[in-house]
Amino acid sequence: MAIKLVVDTDPGIDDALAIALSFNSPEVKVHALTAAGGNLPAEECLKNIYRILGFLGVRDKPLIGVGRDWPRSGEDARHIHGKDGLANTYLPVFSRNAAEPAAKLIASILTGSPEPVTLLALAPLTSVADTIDRIGTAEGNVERVVIMGGAFHVPGNASPTAEFNIYHNPEAARLVINSPLPIVIVPLDITTGLVFTVRDFDAFSRCRTGAGKLARNLLPFYLQAHRRYLGLDGVHLHDVVATAFVMAPEIFETKKAWCDVEIEGEITRGTTVIDDRPISPKAPNVEVVTGFDAEALKNFILSRLSRE
Ligand code: BDR
Ligand code: CA
Repeated sequence: MAIKLVVDTDPGIDDALAIALSFNSPEVKVHALTAAGGNLPAEECLKNIYRILGFLGVRDKPLIGVGRDWPRSGEDARHIHGKDGLANTYLPVFSRNAAEPAAKLIASILTGSPEPVTLLALAPLTSVADTIDRIGTAEGNVERVVIMGGAFHVPGNASPTAEFNIYHNPEAARLVINSPLPIVIVPLDITTGLVFTVRDFDAFSRCRTGAGKLARNLLPFYLQAHRRYLGLDGVHLHDVVATAFVMAPEIFETKKAWCDVEIEGEITRGTTVIDDRPISPKAPNVEVVTGFDAEALKNFILSRLSRE
């Protein structure tokens, strides 16, 4: 049976391709998409969700939610994702079926679902934390929460030490990570371990519709941003890698570990800390992705995204 999936997301180019990957993967059924403030304010991310669904021609529409904005929403990531968050493509917004408040929607799905739900968090964790505030952790039928976030042994991308999704709401991240829910973290250490180059983009050259065409439209801008801001002649598809973990966990390695978020540091606010000591006195509170089969993962992502 397909995994019942709720995706909290702030599209965003890599978010858009992560959503496209989800709709091209029979292992999952996208039950709901909720927009979070992050790459852009939540309302703009919501608009992008409608744009992506329209572009992909998704007929079996998921439920839609929109989260509240976090005060840092002024510090968006338009320089990486474009003024519209989708590479300045300004795709048409075909339909706007009603959006519920994200935490209310997620809470009602988790408490009402007979099957366990996987929550995939591709944005700052505001709405996930709000959901926990609303229903606690005992009530929901949660398979696991897979989080793209954190930077343990690599530099951050929002500050010298903090990864964007955690930096933009460290208190929410701390609450979620320390909750008793089964948490899997896919950190920047992993997502930056896979670089997609122009040669890889060839996979999309013949795609006339759907995910592959979306990739063709979005990736050139994203590549320019990676060249300009990271000096990298290729792109990192952070949210796509985290999404691939949900569908194909066998490609990845994980370990249980203790992890927490710095919420006070003068310079290090939003930094994630993992206890990697060989013998740790701290009980593990999360599962962290630590490695992957690079060839298998790249093939999985490229073949799924170019599937028409
Ligand atoms: C994360 O930050 C966002 O800009 C991306 O969409 C991804 O979720 C990577 O640090
Ligand atoms: Ca994202």
